[in-house]
Amino acid sequence: MIASHDTDDTDGTVLASGFTINDEDFEAIRRFLHEESGIALSNSKRDMVCARLGKRLRHFGLRSFGEYLKKVREGDPRTERQEFINCLTTNKTDFFRESHHFDFLRDTVIPQMRAAGNKRLRIWCAGSSTGEEPYTLAMTVREACPVADKWDVRILASDIDTTVLATAERGVYDADRTGDVPPALLRKYFLRGVGASAGKVSVRPELRNLLTFRRINLIEEPWPVRAKFDVIFCRNVVIYFDRETQHRLLSRFAAQLTPNGYLFLGHSENIHWTANTFAPLGATVYRMRSATAPPAQSIARPAPNVPAPAALRPRAEGVHNVIIGDVKATRGPAVIKTLLGSCVAACLYDPETGTGGMNHFSLPGVSDEGTSTRYGAHAMELLITAIMKKGGDRSRFRAKVFGGGKVLDMSAAHMDVGVRNAEFVLKYLETEGIPVVAQDLGGTRGRLVRFRPHTGQAQAKQLAEREVSQLVEREEQFTRDLNTRVETPPDDGITLF
Ligand SMILES: C[S@@+](CC[C@H](N)C(=O)[O-])C[C@H]1O[C@@H](n2cnc3c(N)ncnc32)[C@H](O)[C@@H]1O
Repeated sequence: MIASHDTDDTDGTVLASGFTINDEDFEAIRRFLHEESGIALSNSKRDMVCARLGKRLRHFGLRSFGEYLKKVREGDPRTERQEFINCLTTNKTDFFRESHHFDFLRDTVIPQMRAAGNKRLRIWCAGSSTGEEPYTLAMTVREACPVADKWDVRILASDIDTTVLATAERGVYDADRTGDVPPALLRKYFLRGVGASAGKVSVRPELRNLLTFRRINLIEEPWPVRAKFDVIFCRNVVIYFDRETQHRLLSRFAAQLTPNGYLFLGHSENIHWTANTFAPLGATVYRMRSATAPPAQSIARPAPNVPAPAALRPRAEGVHNVIIGDVKATRGPAVIKTLLGSCVAACLYDPETGTGGMNHFSLPGVSDEGTSTRYGAHAMELLITAIMKKGGDRSRFRAKVFGGGKVLDMSAAHMDVGVRNAEFVLKYLETEGIPVVAQDLGGTRGRLVRFRPHTGQAQAKQLAEREVSQLVEREEQFTRDLNTRVETPPDDGITLF
């Protein structure tokens, strides 16, 4: 049984807010917070609510919590509703908190993977607060899986609270918060601040680069996450949820874990009632029982619903046609072709292993830039993962990029879609440190691209006017489909990581 959260992580801060809250308003706030985040506040949290939300009342010059809640409900979810959540989460965390979990990862999980010849490790740190926990994971993994051993490691750090997420992403801490970091790791993975930053430490880029930070509300469905994880850390989070929310969350975690994957919970988060799905290994470490694993959460993958024209269907062995929303990776001699208008195709290859591949995508034309770029990041991740599955090494990837022409003219809103696609793909590759060795982007004509992944050779031929019309029709249809899927509901069909 999970202990009442009253006994755990509250930070005990009760400020003299000067406000009092009546029963009705407290009840309404409690209900709304639960609907939005799954957090179940007990009665004893009245003072905390008064103190934390009192600041917002003062900020707006309001006199009652009822008025404030009205403002929160009616406002844009990304503004005061988010602020409301940020105020009411409890974010206590530390480096190497419950350190036996990191020992278990180092001494059991990673050696098991190594013995199985698996050097691809995906970790999700859900409810990562200000970042101490995911950075501890990164240090543990970096020590146990040295870069020289060619491990492919990614850690997703997520939280519902955007303030703590920003702190985590910054990776700058007061030096006195690092007391539990072993001195050798502190020297190796942190930079010490000087001058105005004296007394601070900053996480070194080589550690930070293992992490991706995302706002993810654990009770929202579906999660914008496509990857399966070998390990999920969700410590001292479910303690704030009621039993029903915990049940739902744990079955969704099960669907997001690889067979035999590991789940780490906080010290008081005993989930014996999920014993059919998770085998308890002690100290709130659980392992998926693969035979009873529920089917993977299925998330729609973008695909056009118009049939590919005959010219784009595969013709002969070794020649592959990539259509919009698709990805193809190969090892050894092959040709990958595609026709591009405003879409872009990234051609990545690893010259040493003769592996490579191509994707073909367009960003959805939604106004929310985060949503749009997450979609693009997903298209790129699909390609990278597909090439790595063929034996390619991400650290050796080279890129050639094509497309992004001003070809679509379906509406003014989409006029710049080619430019956005081109800018996105270049920015993504820069961020990921994948060098772009050739590009043919922009212009007003469509292109036929031929790519030989085993040599990295690529050619782009401009299309004649008459060849472009069919292509434009398909791209317009695709963009329309994608926009519908992305806009209702906001995260549907978008995957990351
Ligand atoms: C007490 S902290 C735990 C931090 C860290 N996991 C640890 O154990 O040190 C709980 C975190 O869960 C986050 N959280 C609460 N409800 C959430 C939800 N519905 N979705 C995602 N994160 C949530 C809070 O914002 C907070 O940062």
